[in-house]
Order: sequence, then C-alpha cells, then structure tokens
Amino acid sequence: MLNGMIRDIKDSSWGPMNNFIPRCPFVSDATDLTALVDSAFHGEGVPHGVWARLRRDSPVASHALPDGRTFWSVASYRDVDAVLRDTLTFTSQRGTLLDQLGTDDPAAGIQLVATDPPRHATLRMPLQRSLAAKRIAAMRGRLRVVTRELLAPLADGGPYDLADHMRRLSMAVMGILMDLPPGDWPRLAALSFAAIAPEDPIFGQPGSAESALRAAHRELFAYFRDIARRRRDRPGDDLVSLLTRTRWDDRPLNQGEVVANCYSLLVGGAVTTSQVPATTLADFMGTATLAQWAAAPHLLAGGVEEALRWATPTMNLLRYAVTDTVLGGYRIRAGDAVVTWLASANRDADVFPDPFTFDIRRQPNKHLTFGIGAHYCVGNSIVRATLGLVFAELFSHFTDLAPAGPGTRLRSNTISGWVTLPMTAQTRS
Ligand code: HEM
Repeated sequence: MLNGMIRDIKDSSWGPMNNFIPRCPFVSDATDLTALVDSAFHGEGVPHGVWARLRRDSPVASHALPDGRTFWSVASYRDVDAVLRDTLTFTSQRGTLLDQLGTDDPAAGIQLVATDPPRHATLRMPLQRSLAAKRIAAMRGRLRVVTRELLAPLADGGPYDLADHMRRLSMAVMGILMDLPPGDWPRLAALSFAAIAPEDPIFGQPGSAESALRAAHRELFAYFRDIARRRRDRPGDDLVSLLTRTRWDDRPLNQGEVVANCYSLLVGGAVTTSQVPATTLADFMGTATLAQWAAAPHLLAGGVEEALRWATPTMNLLRYAVTDTVLGGYRIRAGDAVVTWLASANRDADVFPDPFTFDIRRQPNKHLTFGIGAHYCVGNSIVRATLGLVFAELFSHFTDLAPAGPGTRLRSNTISGWVTLPMTAQTRS
C-alpha cells in the first residue's frame, strides 16, 4: 500500500513545483495523516506531536487514504490562513467537514457555512447583526444565571463532571438564542454530538457511524421543521424566527433553507464552546498556570483568548480548490480536497512564540480558532461572553480545582474535546 502511495505521489501531478526543493514528506507522514482522519485516534489524545512533525517536515502534504480518497493536508499558520481567506480559489460549497471528504455536501448553497461569497453575505448579514457583541451584552445577566446554576454543584465537594456541565451550558446558550424549550435541550445536545461524533460510543454508534449520523439528521431536521413552522406563524426575537424572515436571492428563505441553517447553528454552537473550558482545565487543573490566571482577574479577556487558542475545538476545516493554484510550493489541482488544520496553525511557532506555553498575556493572539475571512465564526461574541463568565465564576467562587479521575475524550476527527471530565473544587471563603 505504502509503495503505491509513494508512486502516486511522485507522479508529476502531485509533485513539488520545479523551483521547490523536494522534501518528499510523504513516507513518514503517511501513517500520521491516515491517523489524523481516524476519529478513534483523536479519542486517545490531542495529536500535537503529529501536527508538530507536519509543520516541521511537510506543512503542505498530499495524502491518499487506504480507501483511495486523496487530500492535501495544510499544517502551518501561513498556509491555513491563506486557504481560508481565499474563497475564490477554495470553495466551501462541497462541504467543510472532514467526514464529508469525497462526497459533496447536500447543504451546498443552502447552509451559510457551505455557501461561497458573494451570495453568502446576504444570508450572513442578519445573523451577524443579531449576534453582534452589543446585542449579546444584553443577554449577560441571563447567561450569568445559567452559568452559576451549572457550576453550583461543584460546591458539594464531590466529583463534578465538568465536560457534562459545560455541554449543558453550550446547549443552554443555543436554546436561549433560538428560544427552544428547555425540556428539549438534553436531547438536542445529544443529537448535536451524534451529528459531529457519530463514531463516539456515548453519542453515536461505533462501527455504524453512518446510521447514527442519518438518525441524528432525521430527528434534528424534523424537530426544526416543526419549530420553524410555528415561528412563521408566531415570530419572536430569536434566531429561528430571524431565519424565517430572512430574504435571500430576493425571496424569503424556503423551509429547507431555514431548517438546514437551524441545524447548522445548533450543532455549530452546541458542540464547541464547552470544549474550551474542558480542554483548558483538563490540561491545567492543579498547576500553577491555572492558579496564576485565577489570581489575575484583570487578565480575564487575555486568558479567554489564550484558552480559545489552546483548545481549538474545531480542529480542521475542509475546502476544495476550484482552480489550479500553488500552496507551499506545491501545485494544487482544481477539484483537489484541502484539509486545513486550525489546531496545528494555532501552535505554529512562526506566529506564536513558545506556542506550547499557556500565556494569558500573549499579545497579539491572532488564533484561528474561529476560522478567518468570510466565514469567520458568526457566534464569536457569544462564545467570548460565555467563556468570560465561566472562567470568572469559576475563579471567583472556587479554589483548588483538581482532577478526580481520568476523563473520556470525544471520538471525533472534527471536534477536539472531552465527553467526561471529573473534577473537584473547594468553595472560596
Ligand atoms: C468555541 C466555540 C466555537 C468555535 C470554536 C467555532 C468555530 C467556528 C469556525 C472555525 C467557523 C468557520 C467555518 C468555516 O470557515 O468553514 C465557524 C463558523 C460558524 N459558526 Fe462557529 N464556533 C463556535 C461557536 C459558535 C456558536 C456559539 C455559534 C452560534 C451562535 C456558531 C455559529 C457559526 C456559524 C453560523 C458559522 C458559519 C459562518 C459563515 O459561514 O459565515 N459558532 N465557527
């Protein structure tokens, strides 16, 4: 198999440009790149060693999976940034999730995230206005109440599952923004995780990921069809109602478009935010790093940015080249799939001095956790507000944050994080 791969790669269509010194990265990286696509591999830990090797030896590398699918892997900050900003050369309209590699996304041109500019802007504008920092500031009181409620059981002193409670917080934020009945939140959160981690033994079905994914899609789409119909009749001040009155291509969004975008919003918001406190605490509980941050409330915002960089919940984004181009000295052909590793870019020493040091004073901190360019995460303000509250509440009410046994990592090749993370804390006197 490996020989076949090397032969393919030496073929001129895969090879380096003439003026580029070939480094032939493929032999050593073949195993790495196959592993990075494997959800179970991410369930074992964060593969920073693999990404560091890629950045050092082959920041741009082509790869053929054992099943024949091929893609370019992009690991350096400079190249990830270049791909994501260049929406003319690299389309989102064939899917942006690694699991979609090789199959075109049926939501292309329907979901915001899977629509290219300039058409994309008309759909984005109303959402962006609705999720702007000023509007989010008005929700702060409500967010604080929810955050306090979810952190309160920590005061009992017994093991507290941080991953579970942060998952509920992420879901509550989406539930509030979309005005979904709180009784539905646990099921919606479980379905969102099944959609993004269908191979996870808790949320999906290992060995039968496709049917887990289909079942989650079916249920979420049916749910939002019903909610959207009701919001059309009785609109409110929520994101579902907003979508039902949004105009695109000079007409209101049709039902399929509303539902597909509700789905994307829910899943995009529910599975990500929780992983920032989970990963940060998993790595720093019981260390001086966390104690120093807790003792510096004036550096809260810097700490949140550093936690976002550190955790990078969305590990990668997929794009497809629409024209021939050159990246990192390699010729990329129209139609080639390109996987950008945000999690690798965020540890690139060319941009972040001492990238493996958690530095709440890091300035500048231009992490790519929310992507970059036209599709930059439209939920970034609510995420920053939520995380600010989580860390402020944690540090002001609790001390001695400590792990209470091993946690379980999420089995996903897209979202990096935790399914369970037991911890204890003492209430601050
Ligand atoms: C820590 C939490 C989050 C992370 C790490 C994250 C990450 C991202 C990334 C990397 C993108 C760019 C996608 C691309 O370029 O293809 C994105 C886009 C998006 N995010 Fe987030 N996200 C988070 C939370 C949220 C929340 C809470 C919401 C909803 C309120 C949300 C809604 C969206 C939407 C709708 C897009 C598509 C924007 C567009 O295509 O213009 N995200 N997010």
